Amino acid sequence: MERELALEFARVTEAAALAAARWVGRGNKEAADDAAVTAMRVMFDTVSIDGVVVIGEGEMDEAPMLYIGERVGLGVLPRVDIAVDPLEGTIIVSKGLTGAIAVLASAPQGSLLHAPDMYMDKIAVGPECKGRVFLDAPVKENLRQVAKALEKSMSEITVVILDRERHQGIIEEVRSAGSRIRLITDGDVSPGVATAYPDSGVDILMGIGGAPEGVITAAALKCLEGDFQARLIPENDNEIQRCLEMGIKDTHQLLTIDELVKSDDVIFVATGITDSFLLKGVRYLQGHAITQTIVMRSKSGTIRFIEANHHLGKKPLFSDHRIQLRMD
Ligand code: FBP
Repeated sequence: MERELALEFARVTEAAALAAARWVGRGNKEAADDAAVTAMRVMFDTVSIDGVVVIGEGEMDEAPMLYIGERVGLGVLPRVDIAVDPLEGTIIVSKGLTGAIAVLASAPQGSLLHAPDMYMDKIAVGPECKGRVFLDAPVKENLRQVAKALEKSMSEITVVILDRERHQGIIEEVRSAGSRIRLITDGDVSPGVATAYPDSGVDILMGIGGAPEGVITAAALKCLEGDFQARLIPENDNEIQRCLEMGIKDTHQLLTIDELVKSDDVIFVATGITDSFLLKGVRYLQGHAITQTIVMRSKSGTIRFIEANHHLGKKPLFSDHRIQLRMD
């Protein structure tokens, strides 16, 4: 994929973040999500790709835009898979908490796992820990390996876990191993990616979260040479059937990062909506908004942080589609 695409994609996640940000703390997660989806969809129409959404807002009958199978882009080469989460952390935005991002990943067509919207057990680490941790290994052993790889003591290791009842067992095991925990309310993509940043304050992500978010996290860690392993957790016959339809024959199979993201030509882009482990959220100045975006390309290994100052009165594409950037 051409390097110019990375910057075109940055405009897509910036648009979603700007549209969602005005809903921060307003108690309306649906409106925040709609705003992000519409802005992302509109901006995709300007991008030079023939893209197919493989991870998106749901099935065609559930979502009006960015549904699985929808074609996006100008319809010109390259042919790419697109995984999107226009608003990762809907409740985060509605409550004005930390950790919401607008995110997308892209890779040549056929290379991203078409993960259905169900739960997935995951483990994510940065490059130093690649090949040392295993989803099926005991928690304490994984933490020992991370401590060794990062040359830290067990008490200096920080594990991010979604604050859910289902994680009580892991939480107790981490505590008995003597490591630190950051419990998050929502949004496991940003800490998963942040494991690859030495000064992010996150060393490892563990636990069960959304499968689509897992593939997106794996795409970022592919660019950062980190590691990610997962296993789908279908909860009923319907979910098993959806796995089969999407080409996943053995639903209990351990999925490696190379099975989740089959190409070495990946682009990952995310823009902060509220502050997170990875990015600053949208900040407003007089008539302007500042966004921070991370852009990565696995082929070159380049990682860029783009700080953009948007003149909110000069966004014709937004006003043409009645996407509001201000509440008033
Ligand atoms: P939304 O953006 O759809 O609100 O999901 C956010 C999220 O917290 C993900 O980051 C995470 O993987 C998943 O939901 C966890 O699901 P659950 O809230 O059901 O535990």
